[in-house]
Amino acid sequence: MTFQLRRTELSDLPILLGWVPTSTDLVLWSGTSFHWPLDLDQLAQDLEAAPENGRILWTAVQGDGLPVGHASVITSDDGTIGRFGRVLINPVKRRKGYGRTLVERSVEAGFTETGIDLMTLGVYEHNRANRALYAELGFEETGVVFDTELDGRTRRLIEMSCPRTSFRPFHPWEEKTLTA
Ligand SMILES: CC(C)(COP(=O)(O)OP(=O)(O)OC[C@H]1O[C@@H](n2cnc3c(N)ncnc32)[C@H](O)[C@@H]1OP(=O)(O)O)[C@@H](O)C(=O)NCCC(=O)NCCS
Repeated sequence: MTFQLRRTELSDLPILLGWVPTSTDLVLWSGTSFHWPLDLDQLAQDLEAAPENGRILWTAVQGDGLPVGHASVITSDDGTIGRFGRVLINPVKRRKGYGRTLVERSVEAGFTETGIDLMTLGVYEHNRANRALYAELGFEETGVVFDTELDGRTRRLIEMSCPRTSFRPFHPWEEKTLTA
């Protein structure tokens, strides 16, 4: 099954909403960008304001056109730095390799579609799989950490960054296929 990245559309939002069933999922996905309970109005306002905020939102779709994932980059005012985030895979499609492909392709799209020189992100310290994935792509931990609240517990958020020249995608875009 093929996997493609396209810009997020209004019609994707009800599907996306269904992938964020709890307040913990909301924070894991988007930090403090939205408030709980998440609803279509918040998502629609965010999508509408994306161009003026310098944000690009992508939906990953399977070969049959069904959305399977979501990711985003927001660029700094001077256009040199991008912040990668909002990584989300449909809960019933997890652990099949979609997340890995989504991260690879959306970071690559972030570099390609904007003029940024550096991509940054924040990842929870306990999320070892994602930290390793970002490291494989060329991200390094900057040494900066933030303490954040997640489910009443303090969790460390680790800053990582990747200069354009250090980005190492796993595969050429065209060749990547996944089995459902
Ligand atoms: C994080 C997320 C995008 C991963 O998507 P996915 O499709 O399950 O990821 P993949 O199947 O491509 O797996 C990527 C790697 O993470 C590992 N992994 C994925 N979920 C894991 C879990 N719950 N526990 C341990 N390892 C896990 C996989 O083994 C794989 O490692 P490998 O490449 O060394 O084999 C998905 O779990 C998700 O949407 N989570 C909720 C939102 C979130 O946490 N966003 C990320 C914030 S940094």
